[in-house]
This record gives sequence, C-alpha cells and structure tokens, in this order.
Amino acid sequence: MRFAIREATLADAAGIAHVHERSWQVSYHGILPASVLDKIDVGQRLASRERILRARAGLNLVAYDCTHGDIVGFCDAGRARGEAHIDGEVYAIYFAHHAKRHGLGTEMFERTRDWMEARGMRSMIVWVLANNPHARRFYEVAGGRADRTKQSQVGGFPVIEQAYVWDRI
Ligand SMILES: CC(C)(COP(=O)(O)OP(=O)(O)OC[C@H]1O[C@@H](n2cnc3c(N)ncnc32)[C@H](O)[C@@H]1OP(=O)(O)O)[C@@H](O)C(=O)NCCC(=O)NCCS
Repeated sequence: MRFAIREATLADAAGIAHVHERSWQVSYHGILPASVLDKIDVGQRLASRERILRARAGLNLVAYDCTHGDIVGFCDAGRARGEAHIDGEVYAIYFAHHAKRHGLGTEMFERTRDWMEARGMRSMIVWVLANNPHARRFYEVAGGRADRTKQSQVGGFPVIEQAYVWDRI
C-alpha cells in the first residue's frame, strides 16, 4: 500500500498548505491565468489552514505516503454553506500530482459520506470550476448530478462555478 488516509491534526498544517499550493499550480495551469496562480501566498494558506484545524468544525482528512509520511492530499467537508435544502458540503479536495488516480479521492468521498451520514446529513454539494473537466469527471463518476452554476471570483479573476449535488448520500 503506497498511500493511506487519516484525520488531519494541527501538525499537518504545513504539509496541507504545501500540497494545496502545488496542486493549484499544477492542476489549474490552463484553467486559471498564471497571474492568478502566481499570487498564491503559501504563508496565508498556512495561517488559514491552522485556523481550520484549530476550529475542528468539520471533517479534515489527509492522504499521506506510507513510506515517509509526507502529506499528498487533503479533503475538507462539513455542513453546507448557504444552502436551504442541502445538508453537507465538500469544501475542498486536492491531491499532489503523483497521488492522483490512485483511488484516494474515491476513498475520501466514501469517508466523507460516512461522516455526514453519522450526523444525520442526507444530501451533499460540491462547487467546482466549470472549466475543470478532470474534477467534473471525478464528481460525475462519484454519482454527483450537475446542478446550477454561479459566477464568482478567484484572486479577482471572474470564474463560473458548477455545483454537483448528491440528493442521497
Ligand atoms: C479531482 C481529484 C480530487 C480526483 O481525485 P483522485 O484520487 O485522482 O480520483 P480517483 O483516483 O478516486 O478517481 C476515481 C475516478 O474518477 C474519474 N477521474 C478521476 N480523475 C480523472 C481525470 N483527471 N480525468 C478523467 N476522469 C477522472 C475516473 O473515472 C477515476 O477512475 P479510474 O482512475 O479507475 O479511471 C484529483 O484529481 C485532484 O486533486 N485534482 C486536482 C485538484 C482539483 O481539481 N480538485 C477539485 C477542486 S473542486
């Protein structure tokens, strides 16, 4: 077994911030302009990650390399934000390039659904950049249904986000 998944601890903050930054640079190349990707501030990411992990408000999972323990991915989930009829939300899911397509996303989703189900949540939403076909395919394979879109901004750049909804998790 090359990779495994566990709940994140505060000590993982730097590893998660690093994967987040790298995954953005690699995965969003050609999806977001370089001027936006170049603005990513790892220090800020680290500070916000530490806040998230201290708050312990939702589910924070990490994937790690079993050989040396390095963090290779993460997933954040919790109650849906600003949704009247949807219970849970996956806020973020990112993997380092070498850890993609090993089934870790699928396993993270399964653990997230179990976590939500145990808290009485029955439905779930994820927002994805509409021009991110890889992640969209992953959500479709995971059983998500394309729902509405919204206009939004990333680093001041206008984007369209697509919602995927699971009516029954
Ligand atoms: C999208 C992402 C989270 C998927 O995680 P993953 O661990 O690679 O996904 P899995 O290995 O569990 O894939 C399950 C299935 O989803 C589909 N899938 C996953 N990635 C895909 C891709 N790049 N292209 C097409 N289909 C894909 C495949 O059907 C795959 O099954 P297969 O590998 O047996 O063919 C991961 O690729 C990632 O971190 N991407 C960059 C960051 C990102 O875009 N995050 C989403 C932000 S909203």
